[in-house]
Amino acid sequence: MSVFTIRGGHPLSGSVPIQGAKNSVLPILAATLLAPGECMIHNCPRLTDVEFTLDILRHLGCKVSREGETVTVDASAPVGWDVPDSLMGEMRSSVIFLGPLLSRMGRAELSYPGGCELGPRPIDLHISSLTTLGADIQEEGGRLLCTGPLHGGDIALSLPSVGATENAMLAAVMAPGTTTITNAAREPEIVDLQAFLNTLGARVRGAGSSVVVIEGGVPLHGGEYTVMADRIVCATYLSALAATGGQGECTGVDWRHLSTVTALLSEAGCEIKSSRSAISLKAPRRLKAVSPVRTAPYPGFPTDAQAVVMAALTCSEGATLFVENMFTSRYRHVDQLIRMGADIRLEGRVAVVYGVESLHGARVAATDLRGGAALAVAGAAARGETVIRQLEHIDRGYADLAGDLRALGADIWRKEEQETE
Ligand code: UD1
Repeated sequence: MSVFTIRGGHPLSGSVPIQGAKNSVLPILAATLLAPGECMIHNCPRLTDVEFTLDILRHLGCKVSREGETVTVDASAPVGWDVPDSLMGEMRSSVIFLGPLLSRMGRAELSYPGGCELGPRPIDLHISSLTTLGADIQEEGGRLLCTGPLHGGDIALSLPSVGATENAMLAAVMAPGTTTITNAAREPEIVDLQAFLNTLGARVRGAGSSVVVIEGGVPLHGGEYTVMADRIVCATYLSALAATGGQGECTGVDWRHLSTVTALLSEAGCEIKSSRSAISLKAPRRLKAVSPVRTAPYPGFPTDAQAVVMAALTCSEGATLFVENMFTSRYRHVDQLIRMGADIRLEGRVAVVYGVESLHGARVAATDLRGGAALAVAGAAARGETVIRQLEHIDRGYADLAGDLRALGADIWRKEEQETE
């Protein structure tokens, strides 16, 4: 069993390049299915979620290879239309294959994704969007059986779901006619997906706004693309610098994607400087509490950054209120932070963090991806040694969390440990 050991309690400093965005690369890899040619995708981080996605593409008959951070997918002759239960079970976001499979093969079969560590995650909006585009979707024995053909249509989402917006875009690019998605999610990853699809010859516009329009049915071809930097990984490292009273920078990142996170850290007393492709931060010795943090769809405060900034604020002066509006079970890191000496009260969607003088090292377990990263942030700030177990959650989204934090001066190592609990 791998664990992280961190000896914390000293200010971090240094510079770290930010990996490619997990939430961009997954839909982009699914989109390669649409192109009867070779797609070369740069800045593909080595994450377990990415490797599962590549396994699904291989299973479907694509030729897939990786050289460093560049992945090549040749979907000239995809033969399959099903995602097996084993691969579906590994990663909830494999539901993103529904749109491209329906679009390219006219047929898709995959198991119904269950809940996950963040609570129940319904896919009703994915299904209703694809149905609007002409798909017939039946559920049989826990499997979704979907058939086309698809056509353009007007999709009105009742809430701006990231995954449903992406699935609808992926389904619509090959469906003859015009598709309009209203109340679309506005996340930067959707802008990245649009840019990639247009590189393949698609005609998609409006991503980043609430209305995305797709002129479907144009022939696509292969292409080359570089995935955007991961704004949540960047938020994690800025939080670690802030939590430790440190000073440093994250490079290769678009500061505009992090404006709510940097505004919060600045309110907490950090000096932030953003240039074209880097964000630097200088933290005070002790952070101040900030005004309520309410998670919301982009451009609001990202739910994915809630845990890491909460970890940074555990040692602030004063109390900060958090309201988690996106997912029901997104405070599972709180118990672990309490084990490290944090004072956090929880009720439903609300958490109040009362700043303490300092945290202490403890044995803790990652409960989910971002909650796990939050423990590393807390561990960097805590006096003494912190051991983090259940790294499989963290490996889903961080290519090398320990290496990146070491680049910022942290004393953190990945070690093998005998299973004792
Ligand atoms: C994506 C991100 C995830 C992030 C989340 C919100 C990926 C791979 N994952 O997840 O990291 O935390 O956006 O920013 O990009 N909902 C429904 N019905 C649906 C779909 C969603 O009710 O059919 C609800 C969800 O339960 C949730 C809200 O909509 O409460 C937002 O979910 P959504 O934007 O779809 O998140 P994901 O795409 O799953």
